[in-house]
Amino acid sequence: MNYQWYPGHMTKAKRMMQEDIKLVDLIIELVDARVPLSSRNPDVDKLGQHKFRLILLNKSDLADPKENHRWMEYFKNKGFFVIELNAKSGNGMKQIQTMVLEACKEKLERDKRKGILNRPIRAMVVGIPNVGKSTFINSFAKRAAAKTGNKPGVTKGKQWIKLNKSMELLDTPGILWPKFEDQIIGMKLAFIGTINDDIIIMEEMALDLIRHLMKTYPNAISERYGFPIEGMKAEEVLLQIGRTRGCFMKAEEIDYKRAANLFIDDFRSGRLGRITLEFSADRREPNESK
Ligand code: G4P
Repeated sequence: MNYQWYPGHMTKAKRMMQEDIKLVDLIIELVDARVPLSSRNPDVDKLGQHKFRLILLNKSDLADPKENHRWMEYFKNKGFFVIELNAKSGNGMKQIQTMVLEACKEKLERDKRKGILNRPIRAMVVGIPNVGKSTFINSFAKRAAAKTGNKPGVTKGKQWIKLNKSMELLDTPGILWPKFEDQIIGMKLAFIGTINDDIIIMEEMALDLIRHLMKTYPNAISERYGFPIEGMKAEEVLLQIGRTRGCFMKAEEIDYKRAANLFIDDFRSGRLGRITLEFSADRREPNESK
C-alpha cells in the first residue's frame, strides 16, 4: 500500500516552534521507542543546534527491551542525553530531573561564574503527534507541582510551568511532523497509529504488518493466536486470525476488515508482545531487503 501523509498546519507549527526554541535552554524530544528514527524529524537538530538536548525513548513498555537498550546506546553515542520512559505509568520519570541538571551542567557552571544564582533552566517538549508529549508534560508537571506546591506562572505571554526552583517548562509542546523519505517510514508510522487510520486501508496495512512481523518477530503471531504460520502467505494468516477470533460475516464468511482492525489493535496495545519496528544495528531491519 502507498502510505501518504497529509500534515495539518505544518508551517505554522514549525514557525511557532522556531520562536519558542529561542526562549529555552533545553529541548526535551520524545521519540517512540518502537520507531526511534522514523518518529524523529531531523529539523529539530537544525533548530536546536545550540541547545542542550535530552531524548526520551517513550512508550518503551511497548518496545523490545533489548532494542531499547541498543537505541539508548545509539543516541548516547550521538552525544544526546537519553532516558527510557513510559510516560503513561511514570516509569523512568524519576531520573529526568537529575538528567536535566546533568545535560545543562555547562549552563549552570556558566551562570555560577557570572555570579548568577538560581536562574531556572527553561525547557520545551517537542515530538511528532501521538508520541506522548501531553502525557509526559502532565505527569512531569504533576509530580513537580505535588512536590513543590508551585503553580503555573506567566512570563512574556508564554505559559511556563514552574517545576521547581531549578526548572521551568513551556506548557505547550512543539509539534514536529515526521519526514517521509521513503514509504517504509510511512508504513511504520501507520503501524503505530501516527497517521490517521481514516486515510488507511486497514486490511492492507494489516497485511503489511503481518509481512513485517513474519520477518522480524516470527513467533509473535503464532504465540498470540495459537496457530503455526510457517509457509503461510500474509493473506492466509489474516484469514486464520479472523477465523480463530470469530470475525465472521453471515454464512461463515470471514470479516476481513474486523480481523485487520483486531490485529492492528493487538499490535498497538502490546498484546503481540514488546515489538520494535526498526533496529539500531545498521539502522535497518535484519532480513529486510532495501
Ligand atoms: P501527544 O501529546 O504527543 O500527541 O501524545 P499523547 O500524550 O496524547 O499520547 C498519545 C497516546 O499514547 C495516549 O493514548 C497515551 O495514553 C499513550 N501513551 C503516552 N505515553 C505512553 C507510554 O509511555 N506507553 C504507552 N503504552 N502509552 C503511552 P490514547 O489511547 O490516546 O489515550 P488513553 O487511552 O491512554 O487515555
